[in-house]
Amino acid sequence: MSSDRYAVIGNPVTHSLSPAIHRAFAKQSGDSLVYTAIEAAVDGFEARLVEFFDAGGCGLNVTVPFKSRASAWVDHRDEYSREAGAVNTIRITKEGFEGFNTDGVGLIRDLERLGWPTTNARVLILGAGGAARGILGPLLRASVRAVMIANRTPEKARDLADEFEGVGWTGLDKVDGVWDIVINATSAGIDGEGAIVDTGRLQNAYCYDLYYRSDGDTPFVAWAQKVALGASDGLGMLVEQAAEAFRIWRGYEPDTYPVLQSLRRRV
Ligand code: ATR
Repeated sequence: MSSDRYAVIGNPVTHSLSPAIHRAFAKQSGDSLVYTAIEAAVDGFEARLVEFFDAGGCGLNVTVPFKSRASAWVDHRDEYSREAGAVNTIRITKEGFEGFNTDGVGLIRDLERLGWPTTNARVLILGAGGAARGILGPLLRASVRAVMIANRTPEKARDLADEFEGVGWTGLDKVDGVWDIVINATSAGIDGEGAIVDTGRLQNAYCYDLYYRSDGDTPFVAWAQKVALGASDGLGMLVEQAAEAFRIWRGYEPDTYPVLQSLRRRV
């Protein structure tokens, strides 16, 4: 009997950790499955999806830059992917292709793992792009007290905040108030400046970067470690969003802890 086939599709995708993570989960569950990485040409994404599923593929993870196109492609979407306008997990069923977005759930689970309580927390999100959009719904459902979006271009923060009830917005240079959790959702966190917001706002905050780097701390984490209560990159979120995708596909809840530990040693 041939193994069930899964893959992550993106561009670039060569350095994706998803194959290693899902293979580790399959080892835990005892499933015999194949998980590969597919690099799709920017103008050939939808054709590759069709090709993969026509050849008997069971499920896909979708990464940069295709999440919103995947959202347009699927037949049905869950609540999170509808809100985010982005799909990172696809499964095939008798009813057609189902799209999910597990990123926000991944974030909430990683914050729990870190022991940074979201209940009643005042949360400041830096950035108003796709990454910020993907976490808003799950954060609002996690019983936070307040959510504020701060963006370099304030109008984009306003437009995003307007789509959700009770979310505030401001310019990155106008951040004010007291924050318990500060989340970097700007791409500046990958290879730009770490200090993108007034240091005084972080002193009593836990700082989480949605991004991670394979060669050490992100600039945001390196900077936040010096001024905040705590700081973490997004590697744990990557593992948790993968675990949720695995659960959706296989009905099995992986133990994420040993997988994260072994990735930490690797990256
Ligand atoms: P993603 O989908 O990863 O969120 P995006 O939609 O291109 O990517 O959004 C990038 C975000 O990073 C935006 O909020 C952007 O701010 P602007 O809307 O003002 O462009 C933010 N960003 C990128 N570089 C930045 C920098 N150097 N300083 C502050 N914010 C930055």
